[in-house]
Amino acid sequence: MDHRTLRPFPEGFLWGGSSSAYQCEGAWDEDGKGPSVKDVDPIVPGTSDWKVTSDHYHRFKEDIALMAEMHFNEFRFSIAWTRIMPDGVTENPKGIAHYHEVIDECHKYGIEPVVTLYHFDLPQALQEKYGGWADRRCIDDFVNYCRVCYREYGSKVKYFLTINEQNMMVLYNPERLTNEKKVWQENHHMLVAGAKAMTACHEMCGAKIGPAPNITAVYPATSRPEDVLAAMDWDQMRNRLFLDPAVFGTYPEALENFMKDRGVFPETTEEDFEALKNGRPDFIAFNYYGAGCVRYMSESEAQDAAKNAEGIQHFMTGLMSYPGMCASVRNELQEHTSYGMGIDPVGLRATLRQLYERYHLPLIITENGCGVPDTLEADGTVHDDYRIDYLRRHIRACQEAITDGVELFGYSPWSAFDLVSTHQGITKRYGFIYINRDEFDLKDLARIKKDSFYWYAKVCASNGKELG
Ligand code: BG6
Repeated sequence: MDHRTLRPFPEGFLWGGSSSAYQCEGAWDEDGKGPSVKDVDPIVPGTSDWKVTSDHYHRFKEDIALMAEMHFNEFRFSIAWTRIMPDGVTENPKGIAHYHEVIDECHKYGIEPVVTLYHFDLPQALQEKYGGWADRRCIDDFVNYCRVCYREYGSKVKYFLTINEQNMMVLYNPERLTNEKKVWQENHHMLVAGAKAMTACHEMCGAKIGPAPNITAVYPATSRPEDVLAAMDWDQMRNRLFLDPAVFGTYPEALENFMKDRGVFPETTEEDFEALKNGRPDFIAFNYYGAGCVRYMSESEAQDAAKNAEGIQHFMTGLMSYPGMCASVRNELQEHTSYGMGIDPVGLRATLRQLYERYHLPLIITENGCGVPDTLEADGTVHDDYRIDYLRRHIRACQEAITDGVELFGYSPWSAFDLVSTHQGITKRYGFIYINRDEFDLKDLARIKKDSFYWYAKVCASNGKELG
């Protein structure tokens, strides 16, 4: 629907940017930090490792000062569990002190820290000790780690996020094709851990807390009834499986029956469901890049697709499908970045609407952005008008959703400054601030303001009025 007049962004709306520890901090083994699973995972050939990344660990003051110059009133970052507890359980005072400094630096400029407790980087020690999330013990270790964070930072952080993109961790796990029940078991443990972490937060401090999955509206590839049903099903597996337990304490019913029928539903206890019911999110944070699109795919057809997977794109398409349910397809009606990621601001509005209508909780967008290889010109400028265009359209979609009645309280795009992408290196840049390094040549790691830096500064300062 077209509104004749758009509502303004609410007073106090959070404008900022996001990052994650392992993708930007570097200093991977400094000041007592232990290795995470990310530090030991094989690196995608041709991309850089996690040892230095953007060197944010050493340059966070400079980075936060630049965010302040952009008029951020919010900065979303993650705490590396392995800095706080190098082996996953023993406290490391130097690591704890580091995040005190980061949080204090944010407050110096009136920037609200939005703190992700877990962003893909499980302590390797716990992986070796008992196989990580596959083991129930990981729930207690995670909650104990969260308790340390609440004890230390709970009086100065207003917003915590439990687990970043649990759904992407689970759905993209290749073990889903060979040992599916184990992957759903890991997922169940993370759901219970997230719920218990929310309960502990409410017990220990006044901060608000919520989950941070990657959520997107799912389109049917055609209006064929089977495709429409496939889109509803994939919405259950891609989105609701991660939010219904967090908000309602239950699995989505059709999906639960589907998993049970296949013998892959995880082992659960009554106490787990009690914990899920008790853990109440104050809001939902979500990451959005582009809407999903699926068609119905029979069991045998999908299995063949997974077997024949070649190259990362095909591999991922295989994983974003489910035998007897659906296959993800490229939506040719959606624009795409050079990396094949969808560009769909209308999908963002649809996602905001669906989330709000379903859960009736305040929402914050904790990732959204355009990853492309920027060019640093000889005169030291970076002309990223494509990023400005991308963000402008998505911010406009937020405003439309607010006018629809959605309670959105923040927009924190990916990423505040360049950092190393999960699979495609530093070449795939998202930031407002260019980090002067290449894939393997660290150069001087200087911070350079892109055109989008100046543009976004105006957006933040004007509370979204000046979109240009
Ligand atoms: C999200 C993650 O999946 O998307 C981030 O939370 C990630 O960690 C971001 O960097 C962009 O994806 P990518 O693969 O381009 O880095």
